[in-house]
Amino acid sequence: AQNSNSVSRKNSMGVNLANDNELKALADAVNAPHAAWIAAPLVPGATTNEAARDVTNPADRRQVIGQSRNADAATIEKALANAVAAQANWDLLPAASRGAILEHAADLLEARRGEFIALCVREAGKTIPAAISEVREAADMCRYYAAMARKLFGQPENLPGPTGESNQLFLRGRGVFVCISPWNFPLAIFMGQVAAGLASGNAVIAKPADQTTLVGYAAVKLLHEAGVPEAVLQFVPAKGSVIGNTLLTKPDVAGVCFTGSTETAWTINRTLAARNAPIAALIAETGGQNALIADSSALPEQLVKDVLASAFDSAGQRCSAARVLFVQEDIADKVIAMLAGAMNEIVVGDPALLSTDVGPVIDVPSCKFLDDHAARMDREAKLINIAKPVAGTEHGTFFAPRAYEIPSLSLLTQEVFGPALHVVRWKASELDQVIDAINATGFGLTLGIHSRIDATVEHIARRAKVGNCYVNRNQIGAVVGVQPFGGENLSGTGPKAGGPHYLLRFATERTLTINT
Ligand code: SER
Repeated sequence: AQNSNSVSRKNSMGVNLANDNELKALADAVNAPHAAWIAAPLVPGATTNEAARDVTNPADRRQVIGQSRNADAATIEKALANAVAAQANWDLLPAASRGAILEHAADLLEARRGEFIALCVREAGKTIPAAISEVREAADMCRYYAAMARKLFGQPENLPGPTGESNQLFLRGRGVFVCISPWNFPLAIFMGQVAAGLASGNAVIAKPADQTTLVGYAAVKLLHEAGVPEAVLQFVPAKGSVIGNTLLTKPDVAGVCFTGSTETAWTINRTLAARNAPIAALIAETGGQNALIADSSALPEQLVKDVLASAFDSAGQRCSAARVLFVQEDIADKVIAMLAGAMNEIVVGDPALLSTDVGPVIDVPSCKFLDDHAARMDREAKLINIAKPVAGTEHGTFFAPRAYEIPSLSLLTQEVFGPALHVVRWKASELDQVIDAINATGFGLTLGIHSRIDATVEHIARRAKVGNCYVNRNQIGAVVGVQPFGGENLSGTGPKAGGPHYLLRFATERTLTINT
C-alpha cells in the first residue's frame, strides 16, 4: 500500500548479479581499451586557463586514465552569471517537464551503464558490483526526484479562506544552487544532488570532488544530452578553497548542497553566513562514527556477515560504514574468532576483477591517514586480523582491511574513513552506557542493531540519536525512496536524500491570495 508520501515509481532493476554472462560482459567493458577520458569546465562562453593534469587509476597509479582541467576564477564567475540569467525560465517550466528530462537522463544512464561502470571502477576504485549499484542509485535519484517534483511542485495547494477569496500555496526554486559532492559516490551522490536541485527549479553549478572529475563530467554531459539547458546545469571542477572564495561569497548563491567532512561543512556555513546577502540554504551530509550493537541473542553467523559488509564494503569508504562493533561479552570470543576467520577470505585487489571484494582507497593522503591510524592502533589496541592485498597491488593506493579490539570508544577521536573496524566488548548491565557513548560522539548517521529480543531493539532504537537505524542486517546501501538517507548533529543538517521531503529544502514557499 502506498502512503501519501509515496509516488508511483519503481527502483532501477540494475544487473542480475547471479547471471554470470551479464556480469562478465560488464567486466569486459571495464577492461576493454578505451579512449582517454576527460574532464573540463562546462560553462558556456568561458575558457579556462588552468592547465590539464593527469588522472590515474587508484589500483595502479602508473596508469593514466584521463586528463582533467579545473575552472579558473573567471570561468567560475561566468558560470554564476549564466546560472542567474537562466534560472527563471527553468523555474517557470512545468515540474512535469523538468521531471521528464530527468527521467530521460535515467534511461540514458542505464543504456550506457557499461561506460559509467568502467569510469567508477577506474577513477574511483569501485568494485564492479559497487559500480553497478552507483549507476542504479543515480538512475533512482533522477526518477525519484522527477516524481517528487510532479507531486510537490506540480500544482498549487488550495487553502481555505473567507468567501470571495482564493488562497494558494506553491513551491518554487530558490535560485542558484551550488552542489559540492564527494568522491566516494562520484555518480550517485553527484547526480542525486544535481537532480534534486534541478527538479526543484534551481539552476545548478556542480563541483565534483577533485578525485573524481571524470565521472562528474560524463554525468553532466549526459544530463545536457537528456535536455537540461547548458546554462541551467554547469560543471565547475575546482579546488574547494577556490569555490569557497570565488563562488560561495557571492550574494547570488541561494543555496549549497554539500556532502563531505563536517569541518568543510563548518567552513561553508561560515562563508555563507559572512555575506551581507539573502540567507542561503545549506544542506549538508557529513561524517559519522557509526556503531553496531550486538547483544548475546544475535546470530553470530549473520552478525559477522553483516559486519564484514558494513565495515569493509567499498573499502569502508562510505559515510554509512560501521566503524565500531559493540558485542556483548557472552558471545564476544566466538564472534571475534569468526570475524578473524572470515577476514582471511576477503580478496583485496584490482577492482576490475570480478573476484575482488575490496579495492583500493581513493588516494595517497587517505592511505597515509589510514596507515597512521593503524600504527596507533598497533600500539594501543589488540589486532584481530588483517586482510592482506593480493600480489600485484603494490602500485596502487591499497590499505589492508583490519579489525582491532579496543577497550572503549574513547580511543577513536575522529572518523576513520576506510576499512578499519574496532570491536568493544560490553556487559549486560552496560547497555545504556554503550548507547550514551555512541550518542556522545556527537555524530548521528547510521546505527546497526543485532538482537532477537524485540524489547532490546526498541530500547536501543528509541534512545539512539541517529538518522538511519538498521536491525539484523547490514547498515549500508540505503535505497532511494526506501531508506531515505541522512544524519543529524555532527553528521549533517538533517535532510534525507532519496526521501519525500528532500526537495522542500531546495525550494521556497509562496502564497497567492486573490480577492475574487
Ligand atoms: N548512501 C550510502 C549508504 O547508504 C552512504 O553514503 O551506504
